[in-house]
This record gives sequence, C-alpha cells and structure tokens, in this order.
Amino acid sequence: MGQASWPVWTLGKLMTQLARKIREGDTRALSRLATGVENRDPQALETLRELAPATGHARIVGITGPPGAGKSTLVDALALELRKQGKTIAILAVDPTSRISGGAILGDRIRMQQHHADPGIFIRSMATRGTLGGLARATADLARLMDAAGRDYVIIETVGVGQDEIEIASVAQVTVVVLVPGMGDDVQAIKAGIMEIADIFVVNKSDHPGADRVELELHTEGFNCPILHTVATEGKGIPELAAALDSIPTGGAGASACQPAPDQSTDHHTSIDSIGAATGYPLGPEGWQAEAPAPPVCPPSIDHLGIAVHDLAASIAFYQSLGLAVTHRETVLTEKVDVAMLPAGDSRIELLAPTAPDSPIARFLEKRGPGLHHIALRVPDLNAAVSRLQASGARLLNEPRTGAGGHTYVFVHPASTGGVLLELIQENTK
Ligand code: CO
Repeated sequence: MGQASWPVWTLGKLMTQLARKIREGDTRALSRLATGVENRDPQALETLRELAPATGHARIVGITGPPGAGKSTLVDALALELRKQGKTIAILAVDPTSRISGGAILGDRIRMQQHHADPGIFIRSMATRGTLGGLARATADLARLMDAAGRDYVIIETVGVGQDEIEIASVAQVTVVVLVPGMGDDVQAIKAGIMEIADIFVVNKSDHPGADRVELELHTEGFNCPILHTVATEGKGIPELAAALDSIPTGGAGASACQPAPDQSTDHHTSIDSIGAATGYPLGPEGWQAEAPAPPVCPPSIDHLGIAVHDLAASIAFYQSLGLAVTHRETVLTEKVDVAMLPAGDSRIELLAPTAPDSPIARFLEKRGPGLHHIALRVPDLNAAVSRLQASGARLLNEPRTGAGGHTYVFVHPASTGGVLLELIQENTK
C-alpha cells in the first residue's frame, strides 16, 4: 500500500491534491504539510511553492518580549477575541531555546488545544531545528503556508528578546513587543535590540504597580507608537489590541510605527537622525552627494559602500595606498559622523567615523565592530522601487526624502535585504 511504490507521476498528483485540501481548509492536511516544511522535505517545499499564489491575504503578527511577560496568555486571549470576530487564526509558537529549556511552550499549547478544540485556531509549536537562521526560514515558510491555507491572522509568538527572536519576529508585518511592570534592567536589555522592530508596545499585567512607569519610559525614549495596556488573564485591553493590529500599515514606509518622535527629542536630532539612532545606523546623506559624479541613470548600480571605521585617517591611508583618492570630506553634524568619499570606478567607498560616543556610527561600532555598514544602490525611479518593495512586504525605515544634493533616498531594514542596511538613491533628475 506504500506510496513509495507508486509511479512518480502519481506523486506529483498527490502533492497537488494535498495543496487542494489545504486550500479547502483541511487542518490534518495542513498539519502534515507543516511537518514536511519544517523538515525541509523537498516535496513539501514544492507543494508550498504550488500554494504561493494563494498567499498575501493573512495579517502576519509577531509577538515577542521577555520570559514572564505573559505572552502565551496574551496570544490565547487575542486568538479568542479574533475568533469572536469570525476570523481564523494560526499560531506559530517558536522557541529557539527549547533545546535548553525543554520546550515549556509546548505544554502551554497542549493546554490551549484542550481548552479550545476549535478548528478556527491552528496551533503549531516549533522548536530549535538546526541553525537558528534555519528556524527563522522555517518560520517564514510556515507563515506563508498558514496564509495560503486561508488563515486571516498568523501569530508568531517567540519566547525571548535575543537576536534570534528578532530575526524570527522580522518575518511579521506587525510586531508587538510585550513588556510588564517591574522589569528593571530587563527593559534596558530589551532596548538593545527589540525596539527597532516594534510597531506596538503592550504593557501586560498592567494592573500591577509600575505600568505607567513603563509607558513613561517608552515616551522618554521617544517612541511614539501605540502603547496599550492589557491584563491578558482577564481579557482587558484585548479588543483594543486586536484593533491596533489592523491599524498598522503592513510592510510599508515607516515599517516600525515606533520611530521616535522628533518633537520629543531634547536635543537637535532630526527625525532622520532618530531613526538612525534607533537602528544604530546613520541616515540622511545630505550634503556629500553634491559633489558626486553624475551616474548613468539605469539600470540600478552600486552607488557606494558605506564602511564604519574607528580611525578615518588610517582607513583613508589604506585606500590611498590602493590608488583611491578622497574627493569629498565632510562632517555631518546631525549624525555626528566624519565622512570621506573615495570614488572607485562607477561607485564609491564611503568611510564613516563617529565624532561623538552617541553617534549612530559609534553605536554600530560598539555593537558589531568596524565593517560594512550599508550598501547604496542607485535606482532610476525611487518611487517605483518603493512601491515594489512595499508590495513585497519589505521593511522601509523612512519615507522617500530629498537630500541637500537634490537626490531622493530611502533606507531598507537589514531584515529585508539579507542582513545589510540598504540605501536606495535616485539622483537629481533636473
Ligand atoms: Co551612504
């Protein structure tokens, strides 16, 4: 009876049948394919490709935050609220640490399955499989699968706030960071990484003392995205959270709704600078573009490579020894960065050194050390490029802006580009 003895052509037919069943809402078929996708089974991945045209409907929500923030309870309450509204949900509970912790999240999910035997809520727990990069990829694939299966919401829940969770959460169109009162130093630890991907903050357990202080701290930091208060165990604030999920534009400009508000800055930061500060990347190359050689208009080409360095003079000397010459030097006050431009063929090397410890470049150096900081691509039509990126769900860090040289530019989050900050530039078309 084994399928293995069937001729090859029937296998193809079977997979098509599986895809059809999933489209029809068969949860057992969905579960089977999910396992195949998690195991990187080639036939399962082929079926996933087959289902690709059916994707694009679901709202993909990431929920993350430190252990003890009550995320599971919050997710359960949110799922029930969305069910009340007639929506279907898939929950992907991802635990990159399960190898160590023994997968407590699984126990939670078994509990929930028992409490709510509802085919409208599909729950999948994912533990560590191979590399963490692999886990993020598997999460993205499963999210697409749930989308293709017609789920209205795909909720990706991760257990911590480490780099792995950030990578996984970046699969989401809307990311909710759950905090709780009385976290003390934990808040500082979270700030180091997760803030840059947050679209909504939830202060859960907000009936506990200190909830207002958490909110105040977020405001002080300059984050101006929605901050909601919930008591998940009582369902308080959950309908508001459900509504907020729909209010965040997906994947578009301002991909993080939590960009610090410029008018709350106590110094002379521009809003561009503040985005840079939040991400550790400087933005806004106003000024130094003025002396750029006029590039050919199309197709897209590399305008420059931005390299973060500790010692500008030493780096310049190195590139000069290779025959490159500095054509432009500038100190960008708002970014607290010294810039040197060295043309190399049709593109340029942009050396960036901090002038102050709170420069975005200083933060970058501190976090990652010297090295490639961003890649800038010249595109013939920035608005067209932005539209395409938005359609594909890429995370843009700003609306297209015009620099002092008349060029327009936009930054794309590393989460969308393969891990490097990407600057898109359209030259002045006068
Ligand atoms: Co640049």
